[in-house]
Amino acid sequence: MILVIGGAGYIGSHYVRYAREQGEKLVVLDNLVYGHKESLPKDVPLIEGDMGDAALLDHVFTTYPIRAVVHFAAFAYVGESVIAPAKYYQNNTVATLAVLDAMVRHNVRSFIFSSSCATFGNPHYVPMDEKHPQDPINPYGESKYFVERILRAYDTAYGLRFVALRYFNAAGADPEGVIGESHDPETHLIPVIFQAAMGARANIKVFGTDYDTPDGTCIRDYIHILDIAQAHALALKRLEEGDSSDFFNLGNGQGFSVREVIAACEKACGKPVPIEEAPRRAGDPPRLIASADKAHTTLGWKPQYADIDTILQHAWSWEQNRRY
Ligand SMILES: NC(=O)c1ccc[n+]([C@@H]2O[C@H](COP(=O)([O-])OP(=O)(O)OC[C@H]3O[C@@H](n4cnc5c(N)ncnc54)[C@H](O)[C@@H]3O)[C@@H](O)[C@H]2O)c1
Repeated sequence: MILVIGGAGYIGSHYVRYAREQGEKLVVLDNLVYGHKESLPKDVPLIEGDMGDAALLDHVFTTYPIRAVVHFAAFAYVGESVIAPAKYYQNNTVATLAVLDAMVRHNVRSFIFSSSCATFGNPHYVPMDEKHPQDPINPYGESKYFVERILRAYDTAYGLRFVALRYFNAAGADPEGVIGESHDPETHLIPVIFQAAMGARANIKVFGTDYDTPDGTCIRDYIHILDIAQAHALALKRLEEGDSSDFFNLGNGQGFSVREVIAACEKACGKPVPIEEAPRRAGDPPRLIASADKAHTTLGWKPQYADIDTILQHAWSWEQNRRY
């Protein structure tokens, strides 16, 4: 059985659905601070609780025959992490330590970790590969980077093997429209654009229009949520076949500017999106683009939904039929 921590969240719930369809038996641990019960299939048990709770973790590891942990749980608001850093170090780093210690106690040695391109900080070059220097520029990125360092140490000390997947921008939704992105507050560009298109917010703020990019707005790399799910399944398979611990960047290798994404969303939903130009936000690099060559060659990862229009169609159909 696989323990999926944070499995009721956006990315975790898509992984749960994907892995279940592949025949995996899963159990989810989520405190539902940001997750949604409704996003989980009825036959996947949900333990409601905090991953930092060692007694609860002992209960989970002794109740279920867990062979691996796939870990999505975190707080992920970069701006909030700057004004409330302790919250991020505590939840993303310290509580993750409790999970790793419980794994060691219960002799579970395979761990897949949701890391982030935020561990890199400002890009020195794009596309960014795994050799790119890591120098995070906010507590969120640091909280993930610290876990990466801890994972190396736990591998050396206890033989706990891991794969850390550094996603760039997760996007899209389950193509059948059953589950999708639902953060509260929502800060991710694509759902915010669709909310503006539907009149659920007055407009979309474009932060910074004077960057050194072709249209002056920031460029980001969007990756379909099911392609992220696929990468997790491949990463776990390789670990369980005896491969050593490793780090992979996950992205499309292609960047789209904020204005390009807005135009593509307008095309997907057939509605105009009112925009408001706003000043740059601190700590927003002009370009973040992944090189995912290592994931392609080493994991055999083949994204199925690399096309931005497909990603946006799936996101749009979810927005129209949201269930939670
Ligand atoms: N969304 C992105 O574009 C993106 C990019 C890079 C990395 N990530 C990482 O991917 C992971 C998943 O992101 P998401 O967008 O699905 O976020 P999300 O907020 O939708 O999901 C996180 C889940 O973890 C749960 N959780 C948080 N703290 C917990 C705790 N202490 N105990 C138990 N459950 C807890 C929340 O309730 C939620 O269900 C996060 O680790 C995030 O940092 C996301």
